[in-house]
Amino acid sequence: MKGGRAGIAGVEGTVHHRPPQSRRWWIAVAAGLALAGALGGCALLEHAEPYISTGGESPTLIPDVPFVVSAEPVVEAMLDLAGVGAGDVLYDLGCGDGRIVIAAAGRGARATGIDIDPLPLNFARANARRSGAGVERRVRFVRGDFFQADLRDATVVTLYLSPEVNQRLLPKLLDELAPGSRIVSHKFHMGDAWKPDRSVRSGDATIYLWIVPADKRELAR
Ligand SMILES: C[S@@+](CC[C@H](N)C(=O)[O-])C[C@H]1O[C@@H](n2cnc3c(N)ncnc32)[C@H](O)[C@@H]1O
Repeated sequence: MKGGRAGIAGVEGTVHHRPPQSRRWWIAVAAGLALAGALGGCALLEHAEPYISTGGESPTLIPDVPFVVSAEPVVEAMLDLAGVGAGDVLYDLGCGDGRIVIAAAGRGARATGIDIDPLPLNFARANARRSGAGVERRVRFVRGDFFQADLRDATVVTLYLSPEVNQRLLPKLLDELAPGSRIVSHKFHMGDAWKPDRSVRSGDATIYLWIVPADKRELAR
């Protein structure tokens, strides 16, 4: 969030004394790069400074974390770790450009992506359309706050948020998810609040898996 706003301000600052045409060119290049990265799943974004992309339209609610994508191999590793397949109902909380949701649907799952920011949701819907009818009819993208979402039919929940947001979500996840449901998080664990059942590496990333136990009382305290 910080990075993007500072970055755009920086670009504008450096072209302040250029003729307007040159200034427009830089803005067009910056916009083109942002769009190409988001649409193409550019791996560079994985390592880029986080930013909020609103496309000029502000989110009506403030995101808890900014839009940064998981690299495609990480997405596949997350779905592998959770064993996602036909019969699963997956929710990606903060779905960004929809890549986890679309990949889950490609494995036969029904999948919902929730995001507060309208711009990545537009990319998500366009990406789903491009993926063909088989995928499109199994996905749903919803704009809203994932803290308000009803997750009771989920068998898998995916996260790429922050340790703090994961821990704030923990009571909701325990309350709404049935025993045996899987939670997979890219990069961020839940501290001492809940130790993962498994973790794997994908490139530089660590991916954590929790399985909701039959007896949630210890964790709910
Ligand atoms: C780090 S990105 C992850 C994108 C995607 N899940 C992935 O792994 O590629 C986090 C996303 O969460 C969204 N977000 C942050 N807080 C949210 C909230 N309270 N409710 C819904 N979406 C939120 C942001 O807009 C952003 O798109």
